Amino acid sequence: MTAGKVPLYLVFGDGWIAGQIRDILKTGGESYEVTKVRLEDREAVLSELRRVQPTHVINAAGVRGTPNVDWCEDHKEETIRANIIGATNVVDCCFLLGIHVTHFSSGCIYDYDDAHPPGGKGYTEEEEPNFFRSFYSNTKIISEKAIKHYPNVLILRIRNPLSGDLHPKNTVTKLFGFKKLIDVPNSGTICPNLLPGAIILAKNGETGLYNFAYLVHRVTDQPRGIYTQRSNGIDQEAPPSIPELVHVLAGRAGQDSQGTSVQPRDGFLEGCAEAANIWV
Ligand SMILES: NC(=O)c1ccc[n+]([C@@H]2O[C@H](COP(=O)([O-])OP(=O)(O)OC[C@H]3O[C@@H](n4cnc5c(N)ncnc54)[C@H](OP(=O)(O)O)[C@@H]3O)[C@@H](O)[C@H]2O)c1
Repeated sequence: MTAGKVPLYLVFGDGWIAGQIRDILKTGGESYEVTKVRLEDREAVLSELRRVQPTHVINAAGVRGTPNVDWCEDHKEETIRANIIGATNVVDCCFLLGIHVTHFSSGCIYDYDDAHPPGGKGYTEEEEPNFFRSFYSNTKIISEKAIKHYPNVLILRIRNPLSGDLHPKNTVTKLFGFKKLIDVPNSGTICPNLLPGAIILAKNGETGLYNFAYLVHRVTDQPRGIYTQRSNGIDQEAPPSIPELVHVLAGRAGQDSQGTSVQPRDGFLEGCAEAANIWV
């Protein structure tokens, strides 16, 4: 499909994840263009693909709601148009033109059950999604069910993305918006670690479906310790400060699917600390 051609990437979307992809491409000296063409507009997508003639498309566009996914419950048509019709349209157009697509999906499609209790083993890609209580998640599940059959597609499921910035979509930032943090083990995509890997996979023409996240114990013993320290009558429900929390997140890192410890890299900790300094 892409053999022998100099890679040229066309990035759909201009949001938070797309911005990080763009930075990685730029730093890596790759050729790329960014498009804001609407995913569901078939004529516009085909025309953009014919104009740019990319070897690779990175679809980092999609609706996830602002300020959060609850928005999708009240904006079902927009969500369907982007996440189901749009995502499938881009993949189909690329298929017709022989272009590799990396599609960012979501890991918010699984729920704890008897076989997967909190803190237990994670879900593998072979296991069927079982979280249907969010309209957003449903659109991601439906689109995946269609596009995973195309031979030109790499699907990467992002989950609780963490990065060293203060973007409102960054999980680190979001955690500080909550008055109270709940101690539930979860998984997370440490963006500086994993997003460069997305470009490597794309460049190599890899296809298939990946849970693109580590097993991260997001809010665990250490914040609880911080709470306990603070619980002597002063401020029982206060969340830890940003430096405390980024220390926990970055220090704890995660485990890959083999259970091997993974440390954040490429300035994640420094970025978080910098963000914390700006914030406090
Ligand atoms: N951030 C997370 O927590 C997270 C977690 C899991 C998965 N993801 C997935 O990763 C992808 C990117 O997320 P993000 O955090 O970067 O979101 P974001 O900052 O909200 O950016 C989304 C981008 O998609 C564009 N877009 C939305 N609907 C579109 C449409 N119909 N046609 C063309 N462009 C459209 C938006 O452009 P306009 O503003 O012009 O509409 C924006 O540039 C999404 O598919 C999201 O579901 C994100």
